[in-house]
Amino acid sequence: MRVTIYEVGPRDGLQNEPVTIPVEVKREFIRRLADAGLTTIEATSFVHPKWVPQLADADELLADLPRRPGVRYPVLVPNERGLDRALARGVTDIAIFGSATESFARRNLNRTLDSQFDMFAPVVERALAHGLRVRAYLSMVFADPWEGPTPPEQVVRIGRRLLDLGCYELSLGDTIGVGTPGHVERLLDAFAEAGVGMDRLAVHFHDTYGQALANTLTALRRGVTVVDASAGGIGGCPYAKSATGNLATEDLVWMLHGMGVETGVDLKALVATSLWLAERLGRPSPSRVVQALAKE
Ligand code: HMG
Ligand code: MG
Repeated sequence: MRVTIYEVGPRDGLQNEPVTIPVEVKREFIRRLADAGLTTIEATSFVHPKWVPQLADADELLADLPRRPGVRYPVLVPNERGLDRALARGVTDIAIFGSATESFARRNLNRTLDSQFDMFAPVVERALAHGLRVRAYLSMVFADPWEGPTPPEQVVRIGRRLLDLGCYELSLGDTIGVGTPGHVERLLDAFAEAGVGMDRLAVHFHDTYGQALANTLTALRRGVTVVDASAGGIGGCPYAKSATGNLATEDLVWMLHGMGVETGVDLKALVATSLWLAERLGRPSPSRVVQALAKE
């Protein structure tokens, strides 16, 4: 079995940081992640700088990323303005990010559930014409803070529309981290019943209630092989206040290696990176594996 780790630390991890992080620190963080063996590293977002001030330096960051053969640096792009900025920087991989609920579509994208597609469709069309790979995220797949539980049929309907735009993969986001293995099984079954193969899906779990690793294992057992995680477990969404960090990459790697699954990641080097970053952020990593290995 092979699992692909999609590292989101520099984007999801840093987008909500209260302290300003210098662009050189971000660049060094990305360099260390690549050195630790991660091959897909989401670097930043080409969104409105006022909406996500922490990533306002996206153009500057992308101007000089460590070039490593086989390492990809996807970026978030919500609209054509973002795509223009990404193309100007020679980006090869982008991700659009849709909402499964009306309330989050308005808060995160300033769009309705339906009109988010008017924004995404020309982005995907133009990106594909330029030969880019386009991933799609779908947020609030289990519940959102304003509407409560999200009906699985609604998630499948919106998710299929995102895939049908031409995205190669759909990453299912439990943005506020409330899901449990039961939720994961029900949602993946609903996608399978709708004819969406597990090879088109990725999982993106936030660890608010400590369920991210259990949810990930459930998805792996159902046949999903792409897992999003952030080094050190940092992160959260500025437009969903109850969101905390992602599944920590170290916790994921520890579990996968214990299961005999190869990841290509040097866990020691990754932990050293998260300890280094924690010093810059001024607080310890919430990852249990980082904490345990730091004492060794
Ligand atoms: P809007 O205000 O509706 O934008 O925001 P607009 O199209 O009306 O344009 C207004 C102005 O913004 C214009 O400038 C545009 O040029 C400018 P003006 O003519 O007024 O001077 N503008 C831009 N400037 C730079 N880059 C851009 C851009 N777009 C417009 N890309 C918009 C709509 C989507 C832009 C805004 O809502 C936005 O930036 N949202 C991003 C929110 C975000 O990044 N949230 C966090 C990521 S999602 C997440 O974390 C969840 C995830 O991790 C999965 C999970 O956990 O579930 C992915
Ligand atoms: Mg997220």
